[in-house]
Amino acid sequence: MNKILSKIHNLLIVPVVTIHDAKNASRLANALLAGGLPCAEITFRTEAAVDAIKEIAKQEEMLVGAGTVLTINQVKAAVDAGAQFIVSPGFNPKIVGYCKKNEIPITPGICNPTDIEMALDFELDVVKFFPAEAFGGLKTLKAISAPYGMMKFIPTGGINTGNLPDYLQFPSVLACGGSWMVKSHLISAGRFDEIEKLTREAVNIAKEAK
Ligand code: 3PG
Repeated sequence: MNKILSKIHNLLIVPVVTIHDAKNASRLANALLAGGLPCAEITFRTEAAVDAIKEIAKQEEMLVGAGTVLTINQVKAAVDAGAQFIVSPGFNPKIVGYCKKNEIPITPGICNPTDIEMALDFELDVVKFFPAEAFGGLKTLKAISAPYGMMKFIPTGGINTGNLPDYLQFPSVLACGGSWMVKSHLISAGRFDEIEKLTREAVNIAKEAK
């Protein structure tokens, strides 16, 4: 497995961040580091995404990626800014092909066996199961992953401290993604102590589950 994806496996959680002002990015990174989770997926849901990735990439300990990536231009902008991995909500063969060709780790969203087989065609071994809870949660993941023992999943969407342990205990789950410890209203309000606390709590729950 790619070494960035192995790092994500070691961390067990990918914080999914929507940030409205890149000025908050380095304090966000500090809070995640202090909470024990040196990782952030910065989503292209705001204009601040590229500048936030640049800020966070300055902190060497941080593993920073880009999420909600919908175009090849966004992949290029994210990588130029320092993103080390790419996440997309769905499976776009053009984006996946570009990332594979350029050896950029990508975990595209999948939600059914057809998507998984497209990922296998591109020789991916990790995909994002999205939106996890809305698509039936762990029950669905167990059913759709059964024929594909070679594939690992990052369930994202509706994950929280309540359902995190069950997902992490399922062997096909590499890690879980979620926004619950980095809610954008907490970032915008400068509540980094709260982010650190929620992050530490998430890390402890994940470690106990494994
Ligand atoms: C999203 O949809 O923003 C991400 O996949 C995270 O989902 P969540 O906010 O339910 O954790």
